[in-house]
Amino acid sequence: MTELSKQKINPFDYAQDITSALSHGILLNTNGDKFNAMVIGWGGLGVCWGKPVFTVYVRENRYTRAQIDKTGSFTISIPLTGADSKIVKVCGWKSGRDIDKVTEAGLTPVEASVNGVPGVKEYPLTLECKVLYSQQQELEKIPEEIRSKSYPQDVDGFYPMANRDPHTAYIGEIVDSYIIQS
Ligand SMILES: Cc1cc2nc3c(=O)[nH]c(=O)nc-3n(C[C@H](O)[C@H](O)[C@H](O)COP(=O)(O)O)c2cc1C
Repeated sequence: MTELSKQKINPFDYAQDITSALSHGILLNTNGDKFNAMVIGWGGLGVCWGKPVFTVYVRENRYTRAQIDKTGSFTISIPLTGADSKIVKVCGWKSGRDIDKVTEAGLTPVEASVNGVPGVKEYPLTLECKVLYSQQQELEKIPEEIRSKSYPQDVDGFYPMANRDPHTAYIGEIVDSYIIQS
């Protein structure tokens, strides 16, 4: 595992960078059985129970889902100079169940400081998180217009994009935040 120096930051100073990076996909890293990174386009920086948090939304059959549940921790990795198309293609369309994403996407995991889940050198803005709360969304509470588009019931839950599965929202306390220096 690579060890690089880290510049500590206040994540709220980077709210704009985080929000704009989300629209092209950032990484949600886990390491239940092994290190894995999945692309996410939904997420939220905020405050809950007086703590800085990052909330992610993970569908039922993502490999990532079981990994988070094993450790109760995840790390968010955000690019500062735009998304890398190879990382998006591999980490957003393939499952860690079938492949080693570190090798296929060319990721360089960097030792975590606090939560045990590495960041990656390629996407240096890093938020280490510990899950405070998780809850599966109830499809019947979602407006019909969104439900029919985002949760097509005729699409198998293992499909990498929109499918029949609801998301589980994980509210993660940000326990450390920094930019990996390379
Ligand atoms: C731009 C983009 C955004 C995505 N956002 C999410 C998301 O917020 N939540 C989710 O469950 N899947 C999302 N996905 C799909 C997962 O990244 C994809 O299914 C991935 O292969 C799951 O990997 P895993 O099985 O290793 O966890 C997104 C994919 C892309 C390309």
